[in-house]
Amino acid sequence: MQKRLSEIQNQVKDDLAKAKSLEEVETIKTRYLGRKGGIITEIIKAIPGLLPEERSSTGKSANILKKEIGKSVTLKLESLSLSAKLPDPGVEIFDVSQPGEHKSYGHKHPLTQTIDEIKEIFKKLCFDIEYGPEVEHEYYNFDALNIPADHPSREDFDTFYLGNKRLLRSQTSTVQIRVMEKTKPPIRMIAPGKVFRPDTVDARHASMFHQIEGLMVDEGVSFSDLKYVLTLFAQSYFGQDIKMRFRPSFFPFTEPSAEIDISCSLCKGKGCSVCSQSGWVEVLGAGMVDPNVFGTVGYDSEKYTGFAFGIGVERLTMLKYGIDNIRLFFENDLRFLSQF
Ligand code: PHE
Repeated sequence: MQKRLSEIQNQVKDDLAKAKSLEEVETIKTRYLGRKGGIITEIIKAIPGLLPEERSSTGKSANILKKEIGKSVTLKLESLSLSAKLPDPGVEIFDVSQPGEHKSYGHKHPLTQTIDEIKEIFKKLCFDIEYGPEVEHEYYNFDALNIPADHPSREDFDTFYLGNKRLLRSQTSTVQIRVMEKTKPPIRMIAPGKVFRPDTVDARHASMFHQIEGLMVDEGVSFSDLKYVLTLFAQSYFGQDIKMRFRPSFFPFTEPSAEIDISCSLCKGKGCSVCSQSGWVEVLGAGMVDPNVFGTVGYDSEKYTGFAFGIGVERLTMLKYGIDNIRLFFENDLRFLSQF
């Protein structure tokens, strides 16, 4: 009898699997569980006529099977009526039980993040934030910065000329002049922005990059103030252990002038393509404002002194994050950008 019951069990499974409509399932239900003539019903009815030792086990199994068939039939009925209710596949349904759709949000470009970070550092030192135009007059990019038309150092900053004495500025030092023209000392300001140079593109050079200009003018400002401010800045940006070196240099608009290098974090000072095998990367130009520049903007150079600096934003970011190629900033490859 047990064998017969398990045959019936399999048969019911097959029958239900094949059933495609509610009516078919009802027929199956009647076939097995119907009060009159249902296969299981008849087996249960026949139990009293079995041998005494078979009665109890058959009774148990038959009742279990009866419940099982009842459940399977209910499940099948449910699933058929659910699919009958489903709208056609062309209509979108909203299933509140599904996890939400993941939207990936953008974020600030790593260079913008660096500029924001530097702005915060200088704000704490009471520096104002100023901006100047990218399309400049030759006067602000050169003449007012003590670089007359025949001065050989024009070549270093040579740029894209737009005609009519307009050009794409090659340095943010233009903003020094614009700010001094409209304000009297004391001045403490930084000016972030894009600059343009027809440099040959390599791991460190691009034809467009970002600088942050700095200018402080007051009575009694000295080179040691410059050194203090720049050291404080470098330590805030890179951490207390940062190694810096000041090298004597030349800029037409500062006297004396210096270039400031940061130890190369990519090769830990051993030498690599980013630091031209020197272990140091130049990130800043700086110096004391040349008295001629003060003369141009009408400041009394006997009364006032000041310092100025220009930070290379890309290089700083490369050193901080160990990025070995400046071009990565401008290729807009999300695999790179999303890491920041
Ligand atoms: N303008 C210089 C450059 O682009 C940097 C600089 C700024 C140097 C201010 C001295 C003072 O290289």
